[in-house]
Amino acid sequence: MNHPHTQADAVLSVSSLTQDELKAQVAQAALHYVVPGEVVGVGTGSTVNKFIDALATIKDRITGAVSSSAASTVRLQGLGIPVFDTNDVPRLAVYIDGADEIDGHGHMLKGGGAALTREKIVAAQSEQFVCIADASKLVQTLGKFPLPVEVIPMATRRLMAQFAAKGGTCRVRMQGDQPLITDNGQHILDVSGLHISNPLAFESEVSQWPGVVTVGVFAFQRAHVCLLGTADGVRTLRF
Ligand code: 5RP
Repeated sequence: MNHPHTQADAVLSVSSLTQDELKAQVAQAALHYVVPGEVVGVGTGSTVNKFIDALATIKDRITGAVSSSAASTVRLQGLGIPVFDTNDVPRLAVYIDGADEIDGHGHMLKGGGAALTREKIVAAQSEQFVCIADASKLVQTLGKFPLPVEVIPMATRRLMAQFAAKGGTCRVRMQGDQPLITDNGQHILDVSGLHISNPLAFESEVSQWPGVVTVGVFAFQRAHVCLLGTADGVRTLRF
């Protein structure tokens, strides 16, 4: 006998796919955006790790990858995918990366994996940014996730005051009892309490503060496509 779907059924079906499985779904779906014979731009993070694993299954169909972090480079090379220097591949057809938050315009908040600077560099030389994320990352307004900002350590104190004037509270990201050191030898500030209603203006302003290496708002390098993992399958958002 067929029962009408109840709220309990809905909860059951949502919880039947773990966040990990949702990430694996979008990672697999992203393979369709990889251009045969070309070099693909590869981001950083747990969703991208699943994409790299999927990419390895078609590695004989691509020339290789440009990587946005030391961690992704190790994983790519470990699976036999050649990694090229960004300066040797000035133009990429596609860049595939995750996000900590993405809004309805493709603006993203990134840097949870501390790789935001190199991610923005690779995104800037790519024609298409394909964001892969589970449904929990889709937001109305950026800022609930603490905003990562890569900074030159001697500017930390002043930058904390500048963010405080915007309502933000900063913490230096730690690794054990020491500040985390990025691939570029700098520190990360995680800024909570922000409500980023105009991502383009925010990115423009904060990027000019002396001592900011990269702010984790990706509005200028926004996503063109987002493959969103949902309980009902992969949703494709185009911006
Ligand atoms: C790394 C990033 C990641 O894309 C972001 O943190 C999402 O990671 P995950 O896929 O593990 O949720 O910006 O700097």
